[in-house]
Amino acid sequence: MKPFWCNPLNVPSPVGASALDLSIRRKDHKTPDGVTHHVLADLRLSLPGGAVGALVGPSGCGKTTLLRLVAGLDRDYDGDIRLPAHGRLGMVFQEPRLLPWRTVIDNLRIAAPDAHDKAIAALLEELGLAEHAAHFPRQLSLGLARRVALARALAVDPDLLLLDEPLVSLDAARARELREKIAALVETRRITTLLVTHDPREAIALADKIFLLSPRPAHVVATLTIDTPRSRLTPERAHELEKEALAMLAGNGTKI
Ligand SMILES: Nc1ncnc2c1ncn2[C@@H]1O[C@H](COP(=O)(O)OP(=O)(O)OP(=O)(O)O)[C@@H](O)[C@H]1O
Ligand SMILES: [Mg+2]
Repeated sequence: MKPFWCNPLNVPSPVGASALDLSIRRKDHKTPDGVTHHVLADLRLSLPGGAVGALVGPSGCGKTTLLRLVAGLDRDYDGDIRLPAHGRLGMVFQEPRLLPWRTVIDNLRIAAPDAHDKAIAALLEELGLAEHAAHFPRQLSLGLARRVALARALAVDPDLLLLDEPLVSLDAARARELREKIAALVETRRITTLLVTHDPREAIALADKIFLLSPRPAHVVATLTIDTPRSRLTPERAHELEKEALAMLAGNGTKI
């Protein structure tokens, strides 16, 4: 007999558990000229409620593909996805994808029509965006646009936050700034979060669990649990963990 959460339509199902559970047996992409790419193979991972998980893997291994499955944007796969209770999602894509003809505050209001004005104002304040509320996306730097995309994802009060390369293409100072903001947000809000990065240092600074992925077809080759609380992670400990992560990847023949 199939388990009660069996899901023939591949709609990621909230089951009341406070954890994210992924078991993707197979995901293929077909190119328009009929070539099949085997992208994910037997990829399994679990994330406890309130924890931050980081997917670290080489470029093109299937990280964005996996996030799109979790977000329910692509239902063409063989496997099971169980979301945290209620299954309300906040997602930040690799590109900020803001509505260009709407102001910053309207981008948030459209995404979260039920959110109170006070809550939206507090979120803008928290992300250092208050003075940009009336600006249009073309008036923002990439770093600011990323923050707006993050504020928009948080405005829906998500049970699960998905972040695809949130710091990519930012200069070192802007990346550090945003990383610290994300770390503070996930710490205070305790939202179950799955983020994608190809930078082990970024993963170590943000995550409780790091899932190291193989090249395509991607599966989890090792899971690294960061037992030091984010607030007490010294540069020395972070460096040790980075070496450990790179050694685990190298042991599996994976280069980042
Ligand atoms: N819609 C699609 N149709 C066909 N192939 C696709 C599609 N989307 C992704 N692919 C292919 O699937 C593989 C995985 O892509 P994906 O974008 O998930 O990788 P990624 O790990 O996120 O890469 P990056 O680190 O560059 O962001 C790549 O080979 C990509 O070319
Ligand atoms: Mg990607």
